[in-house]
Amino acid sequence: MTSLDLFDDVKELPDTDAAQQFARLVGLDRLKELLLKEVRLLLVPGLLEQWSMDRHGSVLPCIEDFNRRPPLLVFSGDVGTGKTTLANSFGDPIARGGDIARVTVLRLSLITRGRGAVGEMTRLISQAFDEVGALARKGVNANGKPSSAVVFVIDEADALAETRATEQMHHEDRAGVNALIRGIDQLTQERLPALVVLCTNRPESLDPAVLRRAAVHYEFKRPSKEQRESLLREAFVNVFSDSQYRELARLTGPNGRDYGYTFSDVIQRFIPGIVRDAFPDKEVTFELALSVLEQVEPTQPFGITDGVRKL
Ligand SMILES: Nc1ncnc2c1ncn2[C@@H]1O[C@H](COP(=O)(O)OP(=O)(O)OP(=O)(O)O)[C@@H](O)[C@H]1O
Ligand SMILES: [Mg+2]
Repeated sequence: MTSLDLFDDVKELPDTDAAQQFARLVGLDRLKELLLKEVRLLLVPGLLEQWSMDRHGSVLPCIEDFNRRPPLLVFSGDVGTGKTTLANSFGDPIARGGDIARVTVLRLSLITRGRGAVGEMTRLISQAFDEVGALARKGVNANGKPSSAVVFVIDEADALAETRATEQMHHEDRAGVNALIRGIDQLTQERLPALVVLCTNRPESLDPAVLRRAAVHYEFKRPSKEQRESLLREAFVNVFSDSQYRELARLTGPNGRDYGYTFSDVIQRFIPGIVRDAFPDKEVTFELALSVLEQVEPTQPFGITDGVRKL
């Protein structure tokens, strides 16, 4: 077993698939822009100092505070809204940007892990941070400049809180969280070219000590009416009339419910459902789309079952 077997997924960027995934994420333009700037500043030392010298003739004291922030990003929000996809793919434009030639994305999903012996989650997180640190150190040149970087995605991070709540032993109940904090602090101290991305459906379940460290905390939302319309327009170019696109966008909204369709409901269920229904001997029509829509219910928001919000 190589040390990277510890992770659920290992990806080297740049990569065409990741570039496509990143480009296809709709409605996140502002976040993408902010994220790429933030990530560049977190990964490449000296950029802010240079800017401050150029613009102000000295390195302003605030640069030091900025640089001391932990390289932690928190992506929270509803199911199927693009958290995992963005976390896995934003390294692609970074690896094409000129400062850093290669980004390795290491993904660990906590939902399937660490349910065994007490302390297993702790061990897993500590080992993962050791690997992230070792790989990131290799990416730093003799002159201190990074040539490659590591993005460590901790997916389904709510599981960390669940183990905290369910584990019996008092000494252990914060151990997973502490291992996480230790790992993040270590990366911050060493200023390695590594980032940690925590994805969660429930940010309130994350320890405040973890949330406080985040350089970026972004909440992902279900698509707006305009976004649903543009997903449908992109998928079925010129197949429907303007008013039909608008009507399908309206119908995939809350439409009498408390919630509308998620990005994944539209992209992975509704649109493929239309194609499947039309194939092989019909064409896509508005009526066909309506009949498919009747069979596709929007996914319930995380934590809601039968209209009752779980605590
Ligand atoms: N903003 C978006 N624009 C386009 N496609 C999206 C968007 N958000 C999600 N999708 C698509 O929906 C699918 C699910 O997305 P993803 O797995 O990233 O969601 P998630 O937020 O991680 O969900 P979960 O909370 O269930 O883990 C993917 O195929 C993704 O490409
Ligand atoms: Mg996900």
